[in-house]
Amino acid sequence: MKILVTGGAGFIGTHLVRELLNRKNEVVVVDNFTLGHQENVDCFKDNSNYKFYNIDIAKTEEFCDKLKDEKFDIVYHLAANSDIQKGGRNPEVDYNDTFMTTRSVLELMRRNGCKNLFFSSTSAVYGEKTELLTETAGDLKPISYYGAAKLASESFIDSYTYMNDFNTVIFRFPNVIGPNLTHGVIYDFTRKLQNNPNELEILGDGSQTKPYIYVLDLIDAIIKFTLEIPMKQGIEIYNAGVETATNVTTIANIVCEELGYKNVKYNYTGGNVGWKGDVPKFQYDLTKIHNAGWTASKTSDEAVRETVRYIKEH
Ligand SMILES: NC(=O)c1ccc[n+]([C@@H]2O[C@H](COP(=O)([O-])OP(=O)(O)OC[C@H]3O[C@@H](n4cnc5c(N)ncnc54)[C@H](O)[C@@H]3O)[C@@H](O)[C@H]2O)c1
Repeated sequence: MKILVTGGAGFIGTHLVRELLNRKNEVVVVDNFTLGHQENVDCFKDNSNYKFYNIDIAKTEEFCDKLKDEKFDIVYHLAANSDIQKGGRNPEVDYNDTFMTTRSVLELMRRNGCKNLFFSSTSAVYGEKTELLTETAGDLKPISYYGAAKLASESFIDSYTYMNDFNTVIFRFPNVIGPNLTHGVIYDFTRKLQNNPNELEILGDGSQTKPYIYVLDLIDAIIKFTLEIPMKQGIEIYNAGVETATNVTTIANIVCEELGYKNVKYNYTGGNVGWKGDVPKFQYDLTKIHNAGWTASKTSDEAVRETVRYIKEH
């Protein structure tokens, strides 16, 4: 199959591209390295099934024009702003990199006659709900620009899917971690401890509790629901997650334990959120994805520990 992966030079994208190439697909990656890195994709450059375009996807006409002769069997749209705090300081960032990139991808699919779409959405679309999150929950009120741009993307995907008879799978990811992590709390803690092994600043009060999924589990689910189970006309939305969750202080403890930092003084910045727009606690209802035959292999704590061990080894 000929496949487009947007954001393929990023953390999750790189793992997906590797798996798609291993399965002998032809893979075209589009990224502009705002957050992804050239080194992430250097390992693919000698593969004759791999092609790379450096394009700002938010610029719809330029993106559609450069790819006008490409016919894709499926598009995995992963490009977005993943730096939520940066987006919080400037709403333009999520408008362009999270929302407009989606609009451009949909337009490319419409113009080029591509029917199959995978979209990487997020738990942030739910906003601050206290109940178990189900895919059918209504009254979605995101509290970050990022969450709003993803929800707006889902909405546009809905209409393009209906108007153009697309087959669409949307996964709402929780926090994703694993090898080659480029952002998030584990990344942040390991960098801070490298700079100061005696003290660790922890945003909030450490009680923020979220499910962390191991990236290779997530890739397994993406492949299953796009390539192994035939995609159907219309939209299927799944909470792709793990049943367990890990709080921030536990993450700090695992990082210190695995990396051998002893007697570290934790300095909490206070409050129950890491930053404005952060949802401090959530848990998914995973009935739908479990009933469809997929369950993550690692718990949230195992995913954290495995990620830190990978960082230590590399
Ligand atoms: N990592 C997580 O915990 C998590 C959680 C929920 C959802 N997601 C979603 O999964 C997807 C992948 O996330 P990730 O963690 O790999 O992030 P990432 O930042 O590592 O990857 C995103 C990629 O998109 C690229 N990109 C951004 N704007 C672009 C633009 N205008 N044109 C071209 N390329 C552009 C970046 O350069 C980067 O390589 C994103 O859509 C993200 O919102 C991630």
